[in-house]
Amino acid sequence: MRAAAAEKGILFGSAFSTIYMSDEAYTREFASQCGVLVPEVELKWAALRPSPETFDFTRGDTLYDFASANNILFRGHTLVWENALPSWFNAYVTARNAEQLMTNHILSVVRHYAGKVTSWDVVNEGVQVQDGRADGLKVSSWLQHIGPEYIELAFRTAHQADPKATLIYNENWIEPDDSDSEKRRRAVLALLTNLRKRNVPVHGLGIQSHIFAEANVTGPNFRQFLKEIEDLGLSILITEMDVRDQHLPADIHTRDQLVAEQYRNYLSFLLQFRSVRTIVTWGLSDRYTWLSTHNKRADNLPVRPLPYDFELKPTAAWQAIQTALEQASTR
Ligand code: G3I
Repeated sequence: MRAAAAEKGILFGSAFSTIYMSDEAYTREFASQCGVLVPEVELKWAALRPSPETFDFTRGDTLYDFASANNILFRGHTLVWENALPSWFNAYVTARNAEQLMTNHILSVVRHYAGKVTSWDVVNEGVQVQDGRADGLKVSSWLQHIGPEYIELAFRTAHQADPKATLIYNENWIEPDDSDSEKRRRAVLALLTNLRKRNVPVHGLGIQSHIFAEANVTGPNFRQFLKEIEDLGLSILITEMDVRDQHLPADIHTRDQLVAEQYRNYLSFLLQFRSVRTIVTWGLSDRYTWLSTHNKRADNLPVRPLPYDFELKPTAAWQAIQTALEQASTR
């Protein structure tokens, strides 16, 4: 998949973690198939910040060393998110110290990886229309303590720390063709349009793509949204793709075919947009997927959302991704 993507000027890769590095077979396959690595947890606050005064880059650096030793690019995920925060955070953060806490974190982390990270997810999942705000923003601890301007401040601070890094706004649940997702898309578009108007250094949109196998994720509203994002001059990245098979029949062959079909449909749809030049899956093998713990099947059968099965055998999804890359136009 790495080679097929590179031939078209596309970067293909996956999330990886130090937790999996003792699995030599998986690590080897990862290095052969991936041109970009995204730390699954190692660059989040919970891993980087043992205390308000200290940073621990050990695990992040281990992943960077592995990536650079295998000529794999390195994506940063994520500088500002209301999840994966350290245990001390909620008791420590106040309206007085939140801005300094956030900017100091961004400056320190981005400077530490300056020239090593190709692109950063600066802000992750900042929209939640259900929270009832006119701008559709999520009422996160960052918004509560700093205000909606925390997003602009985060991007300007990241750019100050590494002017060469590509800075991404990363979001989920914007793919399906339903009214909730349409409201989210409108809120994301308004946010990015506003940031661009004020010359805030945001360079692209990350579409997580944790999609259900049965969902319609190639609808006209989504297509219109992607065109509007491109018209803003932003690049589009698929940042955390997996195809959820929770609601599919138990039969493995049937499931794999339906999962593969969704990979094929979704990727060939997205790759029509020339600004899509990065495709990242959230793990490569069903052996290591967050869906095993976060989204179990009702029948408790192991989930199969990724291009390699538990035994590290390529599934129909692998071939679907390969074919979509081979059929894509050269960027
Ligand atoms: O490493 C500790 C371990 O020492 C401890 O014994 C264990 C039990 O508490 O927890 C382990 O940490 C877990 C970590 O994954 C590593 O496995 C955390 O509890 C758990 O919360 C963390 O989950 C990650 C989650 O983000 C939160 O950071 C998932 O692996 C990761 O796949 C998930 O990824 C997110 C993206 O960042 C954003 N988009 C959605 C996506 C899926 O939720």
